[in-house]
Amino acid sequence: MRLIIFLKASSNTGRPLAFAFDIDGVLIRGGEALPAAKEALSIINGNNALGLKIPYILLTNGGGVSEVERCRKLSIQLGVQIDPAQYIQAHTILKTVAHKYADVPVLVLGGKGDTVRKVAEGYGFNEVYNTLDILAWNPSVWPLHTLTQDEHLSVKSADFSQISFAAIFVFHDPRNWALDIQVICDVIQSGGIVGGPYLSDHGRSPVDLVFCNPDLIWRSDFERPRLGQGAFKDAFQTVFKSLTGSNYPHVLYGKPTMATYSFAEMVLKDRLRGQLPSVFPAPDNPESDIAGANAAQWKSILVHTGVYNPQQGPPSHQPTHEAEDVVQAVRWALDQEF
Ligand code: G3P
Ligand code: MG
Repeated sequence: MRLIIFLKASSNTGRPLAFAFDIDGVLIRGGEALPAAKEALSIINGNNALGLKIPYILLTNGGGVSEVERCRKLSIQLGVQIDPAQYIQAHTILKTVAHKYADVPVLVLGGKGDTVRKVAEGYGFNEVYNTLDILAWNPSVWPLHTLTQDEHLSVKSADFSQISFAAIFVFHDPRNWALDIQVICDVIQSGGIVGGPYLSDHGRSPVDLVFCNPDLIWRSDFERPRLGQGAFKDAFQTVFKSLTGSNYPHVLYGKPTMATYSFAEMVLKDRLRGQLPSVFPAPDNPESDIAGANAAQWKSILVHTGVYNPQQGPPSHQPTHEAEDVVQAVRWALDQEF
C-alpha cells in the first residue's frame, strides 16, 4: 500500500513532523483500544485543521508474533490500516542480525507454542529450537512441568545431546520462567549443550545471549503495571549469579536502547524518502520510552494512561510535555509544530 504523506515542515525544526506511537498503555490496554486512540489516529490521518496526513510509526517493546499478524490485529482494534512497514516491535531489529546465525542452532524464548520459532525462521534463522522442544526430548530437564497436548503438537523433535547452541534470543516475554531459566542456565554453563559437562569458565566458548525488551513493568488492563521481559532478565541473572558467582554478558535491544531508536530512525527515513523527521513519541513509560527519546534527542509527550501515574510524583525521566491521553498529546504536538 503506497502511503501518501504530506511532508509539511515543522515551523520549529524545519524538518517534517512524524509520530512514534507506543502501544501498551497508550493506544491499547490489554486487548482493547483506549478511547483516545481512535481519535488521535483520525487526527493524524488528515482529520485536522490543516487537512494534513502526518506520518507515524508504532514503536513497541511488545511482540511474540509476526509483524504482519500483529498489524492485522491492530488494524481491527484501532479501526485504521496499520502497515507492517510502519510497525517496529521488540524483536524486529533481529532481522538485521539473523544472517550471522543463519546456519547454527539457536534457542528462542517467549510467546506461545512455536509462534516465535516461525517468526525467527521468517527473519532468516534456519535452525531454531525452543525450551518446549528440549522438555519434549527429555522431561527430566525440568520435572515440574508436563507438556500440554497443544505444547506437544508444537514441538520440533531433535537429539539435544548432539546440538550445541550458538545463541539464545529472548524474543518476547517467556511463559514458563522456571523452565526457561533452567534451560538457559544449562545451555550457558555447558557452553551450548543441554546436559553437557559444566565448563569451569563458560566465557571460553560463549553462547550469545540477547534480550529484546528491557521493560521491568508494562501496562495491561489490570489496574497496576505487570512484570515484563526486563523482570525475566533480572530473574535469570540473579539465578545465574547464585549458580556461578557472576552475571552473564548479554546484548539488549528494545526501548530505551540506542540500537532500537537508531533502527526506528532508519525506518522513518525510509518512509520519508530519506528525510529524517522531527519525531514525537507519545509513550507511557518513563524508564523505557522517555529515557530512550531523551537519549535519541527526540521530543516526547508522556501520557497518563499507562505505566506512569502522576500521583506518584514526577517522572524518573523528564519528557518535553505531559498529556492526559494520546489525543491531547497529538493536539499539543500539532499546535507546537505548525
Ligand atoms: O510486552 C510489551 C510491554 O513490555 C510494553 O509494550 O507497547 O508499551 O512498548 P509497549
Ligand atoms: Mg507502553
